[in-house]
Amino acid sequence: MASLEELARENSNLEDDLISYLQDLTRSWGLLADLSFSDLLLYLPTKEPPVDSFVLLAHVRPTTSTTLYRADLVGQKFEAQSRPLVSETFVNAQISNGKVPVGGDREISVMAIPVMWKGETVAILASEKASIVEPPRSEMERTYLSIFDRFAEMFERGEFPYGEESRFRHRMPRLGDGLLLVNTDGQIEFASPNAVSLLHRLGWHRPVVGSRFEETGLSSKILNEAFSLKSSVTDELEREDKTFVVSHCFPLLHSGKATGAAVLVRDVTELRRRDRQLISKDATIREIHHRVKNNLQTISSLLRIQGRRLDSDEAQMALNESVRRIGAIAVVHETLAVSQEGEVTFGEVMRPLVELVKEGLSSPVKPVSIEVSGDTGLLPSEVTTTLAVVVTELLQNALDHGFKPASEELENGKVDVLLSKNAEAVMVEVSDNGVGLPEGFDIENNVGLGLTIVKTFIQQELEGSLNVISNGTGKGVRFQICLPSDRIFEKIDL
Ligand SMILES: Nc1ncnc2c1ncn2[C@@H]1O[C@H](COP(=O)(O)OP(=O)(O)OP(=O)(O)O)[C@@H](O)[C@H]1O
Ligand SMILES: [Mg+2]
Repeated sequence: MASLEELARENSNLEDDLISYLQDLTRSWGLLADLSFSDLLLYLPTKEPPVDSFVLLAHVRPTTSTTLYRADLVGQKFEAQSRPLVSETFVNAQISNGKVPVGGDREISVMAIPVMWKGETVAILASEKASIVEPPRSEMERTYLSIFDRFAEMFERGEFPYGEESRFRHRMPRLGDGLLLVNTDGQIEFASPNAVSLLHRLGWHRPVVGSRFEETGLSSKILNEAFSLKSSVTDELEREDKTFVVSHCFPLLHSGKATGAAVLVRDVTELRRRDRQLISKDATIREIHHRVKNNLQTISSLLRIQGRRLDSDEAQMALNESVRRIGAIAVVHETLAVSQEGEVTFGEVMRPLVELVKEGLSSPVKPVSIEVSGDTGLLPSEVTTTLAVVVTELLQNALDHGFKPASEELENGKVDVLLSKNAEAVMVEVSDNGVGLPEGFDIENNVGLGLTIVKTFIQQELEGSLNVISNGTGKGVRFQICLPSDRIFEKIDL
């Protein structure tokens, strides 16, 4: 579906500021739909007058009543004669009320309201609802409708939207969260049932209507600010009893003077409690990664001590290799322990991994360079761990077997790690310009523990594929790993 901005640009040449003004309007209009028990539709004329058609820029349904429109009409064009009240309001810049036949013997009630910008009507806001014989209205319904009428008149006078609408930090509360109607003295004239319950929860047990706004436990700061700024004001109040209330105050204006305010109130205590839990859960996860890393280091030193006591070279080497493999896993946990999101990209673990492999080299002067480029985007931590072991193995092989001591290849010896991703997969490629695989090499048979680990981890654990390219002696080796996104991202993170 096209956005409001796209539709406005396609069908007219509205200036940027005006487009943002209309966007602001649609950010807060859910409240108006709820107050009027109607669908709200924003119509934009497609040409200079005489206007012969309107495009529907945006639509919001009420949560307090049933919608007239099940289908999504945004983006559709309407002939001017099929929207008589909208056309009328566009021409005379005044609210028009009436009933419009919609086929059969059905008709709908329409209130067309001019949306003003620099003294001119630029769009029409239509409140549309089923026209039925109306049952006697409750006090609540009457109050909502009268508040809506006050907003409609503010539109007509160019006083709403407020112009410098504050950017909403919070989800815009809807009428169902709780509404208080307050007069300019700060006295509550009306409270919706949910607002009354909220104030009860906050500890105010006296009648709400007639009380002063600040006595009920809310802060009068937003009222004062909204009255003086003549614009909506949002505030989040953290009370001593650790309850959190978000209030949105909409001043009701008449010819530049505040005549009262509609205040939406929402209890966000539960939400904030969950936020805090999430933060502490993140901290716990980081702490666990830290401990896992420490435990792995302990295991490594145990193996190292044991290795030193062994006489057999082969056994010593085997233990040293295990120490290296455990080290690769520890690197991932260490990186995760300091990450903010609890997830890291593979690029972030590559640097310490390369350091680890270099540290393990028998002669540190071996001038083979290791270069890493690209990245994989965030990966689940267990995928990162598995992949870290695989890539360490491949780097180790390139250094161990690709470049013979004092050989020609060693001069410009280079290992490249290329990381990339697209919509379907994450790709890792490790290539070197060393001697290449020995003749008769067959990845399916007769490989050592290193490549067996690589194959098992890629194919079985990560359900990916491994491709080896070696174009003959002296031309290096290229290992290509492809991990399908649908497999690796379905794994549950810690
Ligand atoms: N980058 C490379 N360049 C040249 N030969 C390679 C390369 N990678 C692997 N090989 C060859 O593949 C063989 C198998 O490698 P693999 O990692 O499985 O075992 P390994 O390195 O010999 O022993 P380890 O179990 O200690 O890793 C190596 O012995 C080597 O001959
Ligand atoms: Mg190996």
